[in-house]
Amino acid sequence: MLPPPVLERIGADVPSWRGTGVSAMELSHRGAAFREIAEKTQADFRALLRIPDHYRILFLAGGATLQFAALPLNLLGAKRTISFFDTGAWSKKAIMEARKYAAVEIVASSASSGYTTIPPREHWRIAANTAYAHYTANETIDGVEFPFIPDVGSVPLVSDMSSTLLSRPIDVERFGLIYAGAQKNLGIAGLSIVIVREDLLDRARADTPTVLNYAVQAQQGSMANTPPTFAWYVLGLVLEWLRDQGGVVEIEKRNMSKALKLYEFIDSSDLFANAVEKSVRSRMNVPFRLTEPLESDFLSESVAAGLLNLKGHRSVGGMRASIYNAMPEAGVEALISFMKDFEQRGG
Ligand SMILES: Cc1ncc(COP(=O)(O)O)c(C=O)c1O
Repeated sequence: MLPPPVLERIGADVPSWRGTGVSAMELSHRGAAFREIAEKTQADFRALLRIPDHYRILFLAGGATLQFAALPLNLLGAKRTISFFDTGAWSKKAIMEARKYAAVEIVASSASSGYTTIPPREHWRIAANTAYAHYTANETIDGVEFPFIPDVGSVPLVSDMSSTLLSRPIDVERFGLIYAGAQKNLGIAGLSIVIVREDLLDRARADTPTVLNYAVQAQQGSMANTPPTFAWYVLGLVLEWLRDQGGVVEIEKRNMSKALKLYEFIDSSDLFANAVEKSVRSRMNVPFRLTEPLESDFLSESVAAGLLNLKGHRSVGGMRASIYNAMPEAGVEALISFMKDFEQRGG
């Protein structure tokens, strides 16, 4: 969900951006008005996440899946191997795409646990001479989140933070590159953000499509082609909202509190269960199952109670509560009280 104040602003700006008579959807990416939005959004993003100057921030068209292909094209350089942590559905998709361009070595896999764990450090294997090591910070489908930044030594660390970015502070300097699709905590679909250390911008393959070439996009202010201007504008509003909430430090506290409440209830219940190992449970996506065959009743009654989008991802089934930044604590409390009531009624 988007924060309600952001939706209100969009509502006013769609017919006429700041009273100009021009819709926020009609702003030309080369015009002064959009340039102002773009530069402010870039500066706010850098400030909120304390991104050092030697990292470039790119605002690119397309989702994280497009970056699965752009990453090897840009970062493999003269090397042949990429290292991947395999911790869930999105890791698997990133691995499949990278295999088209490089040899993939698995650092560690939690497949044997049904993707409910993160393998401990002593089981990791970083291949010699690997171009970079990739991990999915939060597995949106499986509900598994790294509670730490993996230490991969001097190998550039790359992270898919599609469902993590802006939900907590991060030490950007630990990374070579961070990327995320926007439609979770950053706004709406159509935009992805790439935060890339400048020294990694010199290794793109010659046949990398121009719009996917990070060095070209960095040099041209993310405007090598027409960027998704409306999604970029919405991100700007989301960043203003987040700053007003107290930034990533404050939002992390709220996210921890929301997640804790929901997991505490699920663990105390006989009807609902979450299979993920406690220390790696996601703060953003809480998958759960019913121990009795009442899932379709639960889903239809939850919709009637105004609790939406609780159906788990089609690949795994079950239920999933996504509790991104804009979900207020009251929304989680409403879900818990609905679940309690459902359990007490015997489904
Ligand atoms: C962690 C993660 N990576 C990648 C993706 C793919 O994003 P997109 O569908 O925008 O390409 C998603 C989408 O939900 C995701 O959650």
